[in-house]
Amino acid sequence: MELVINGGNKLSGEVKLHAAKNAVLPIIACCVLVGEDVVINNVPDLIDIHAMLDIIKSLGGSAEYDEGTVTVNCNSLVPTLIDRELTKRARSSIFILGPILSRFHEAKISYPGGCEIGTRPIDLHLSGLKQLGAEICETEKAIECKGNLNGSEIVLRLPSVGATENIMMAAVLAQGRTIIHNAAKEPEIADLAAFINACGGKVYGAGSDIIIIEGVEKLHGTVYTPISDRIVAGTYMIATAVCGGKLVLRDINLSYISSLVNFLTVAGCRLSYRANDMTVISSGRLSGIPKLSTGYYPYYPTDLQAPMLTLMSVAKGRSELKENLFESRFKHAVWLNEMGADITIDGTTAIVNGVKKLKGKEVFAEDLRGGAALVIAGLKAEGQTIVKNICHIDRGYEKIECLFSAIGGDIYRR
Ligand code: UD1
Repeated sequence: MELVINGGNKLSGEVKLHAAKNAVLPIIACCVLVGEDVVINNVPDLIDIHAMLDIIKSLGGSAEYDEGTVTVNCNSLVPTLIDRELTKRARSSIFILGPILSRFHEAKISYPGGCEIGTRPIDLHLSGLKQLGAEICETEKAIECKGNLNGSEIVLRLPSVGATENIMMAAVLAQGRTIIHNAAKEPEIADLAAFINACGGKVYGAGSDIIIIEGVEKLHGTVYTPISDRIVAGTYMIATAVCGGKLVLRDINLSYISSLVNFLTVAGCRLSYRANDMTVISSGRLSGIPKLSTGYYPYYPTDLQAPMLTLMSVAKGRSELKENLFESRFKHAVWLNEMGADITIDGTTAIVNGVKKLKGKEVFAEDLRGGAALVIAGLKAEGQTIVKNICHIDRGYEKIECLFSAIGGDIYRR
């Protein structure tokens, strides 16, 4: 499968967002802690989500996806080895380690896969679980953990999203109180805590850098609607900025995207926000952004670095974009240059001299967000762009061609 894009159209219309993939994935993993039905609403139909549901099924739980509604029941789950065939489909598979260990006092998982954007270690996940009392044995093929977990005080070396979530879930059924210092503050963390609390857990402070979890004996089922996807929202906003037009995004919390709003304003877009709706207006003629660095929330998200590089490619003047989280996250730059961009990569910084136009080309999605950046470039470029290897894009955007064609893009899948 590939995407065929005839560039040059403006983007206009309204968009209602799905729940955030990065909120839904840990919530599905967290269902392992619950012995009853959990219903999750507004879930996008994504490869990564199905990979997580398949892991639950492989362990004997039930997990169904029906038009945006996920129903999970982990009552009869058995903590057998999670096969590499399943874990290599998504890096987020590692999230399930903490909940399985917390509930069954043992867990076995093959090493996780995911986007090739850097080494992506899991040392913080494992050292956090060790501090809760787990014995961990890492073999060539799998990670085996066992032990009764007890609350502990854990200081993270850096505020890893996944490690914070894994430790938080492991602590839910642990004996006593756990305190996580230097926790990640991303909105998806606060959302996971809200889900746990809706199931009867006791998590306090999520969204700040200190999270306190009081262990409980068990969780009960619930119906939950996760927060909307700020990265998909940002992708749309940047695409509208690049192509020109007027887009209204429904149901987005301004604080989730405030750093992007600031930079789009610097680039020359008009943005307004009213009652959870964000409006972006762009003439398509943009100014460069002299300096932008990715960072932990609330700073500019690494997941919107790639789309922003497309914007800088066609913005007037010189821009500089520094990637601070992942070391191999500029693979899309090569393809943008193929399309006529002028980008030089110097270590973890991209130096961009804006060009007047991009030309349609055959390009290759090397990872999820880099793939989205190429789609935006194709929507802007003169002529036809073919984006290949779109399995990466399908991991994070539900039918991206439908998303964009609904607001005026000339894009289809074949
Ligand atoms: C999550 C998001 C991903 C996003 C990233 C950063 C999900 C499913 N994915 O990924 O979309 O790009 O946050 O916002 O939510 N690190 C270590 N040791 C560890 C764990 C991480 O050194 O044990 C480092 C990583 O190499 C990276 C940094 O910490 O440099 C941040 O990674 P982390 O926040 O853990 O990202 P993920 O949870 O994998």
